[in-house]
Amino acid sequence: MKKNMHKDVTEILVTYEEIEEICEKLGKQISSDYKTDDLVVVGILKGAIPFLTLLTFNIDINVQIEYMQTKSYYGGHESTGTTTITHDLEVDIKGRDILIVEDIVDSGRSLKLVKEHLYNKGAKSVKVCALVTKEKGTEEDVVIDYVGKVIPNKFIIGFGLDYQEKYRNLKYIGVLDPKVYGGK
Ligand code: IMP
Ligand code: MG
Repeated sequence: MKKNMHKDVTEILVTYEEIEEICEKLGKQISSDYKTDDLVVVGILKGAIPFLTLLTFNIDINVQIEYMQTKSYYGGHESTGTTTITHDLEVDIKGRDILIVEDIVDSGRSLKLVKEHLYNKGAKSVKVCALVTKEKGTEEDVVIDYVGKVIPNKFIIGFGLDYQEKYRNLKYIGVLDPKVYGGK
């Protein structure tokens, strides 16, 4: 039977209006922080797409938009502890400024891997912008330069974030009902 996806959300943590405000604020900040017009914005697929789109609409300096893909969850609701790069950049980033855009930084493992990877490819600087981080903080020692909102330590979905490839099209960020993944 067809099911309404909104029913699987127990609580809304970030509304669409709030996401719009976050993107305006961060976009302004990024536009004024960078003194270059050769910024490469690297979105991490697939979750970063809606955030990257709204964020870059609020950046008024020239940027080049590129994507990379990493995998770490493999369909569960907890990180497996190993992250791999499944799609690499196809442009030369030697000597260039990079801004990584992430939907969420949780343990920080994928971010650490991507950051090291980009420096190994010769990036001049690598900064990070995440829509949300969790209250517990990261396990890895990584700096997140721009954060939209710090949220409770719950498994969330929406605005790009998925559970088993579903819910990315929710227009807000919410808590997934644990019943969906067999929790309490
Ligand atoms: P990491 O633990 O920081 O390496 O996060 C890896 C990836 O796991 C993130 O980029 C997200 O795609 C995903 N992830 C982490 N926490 C959540 C969550 O609460 N809901 C959905 N996806 C998540
Ligand atoms: Mg992600």
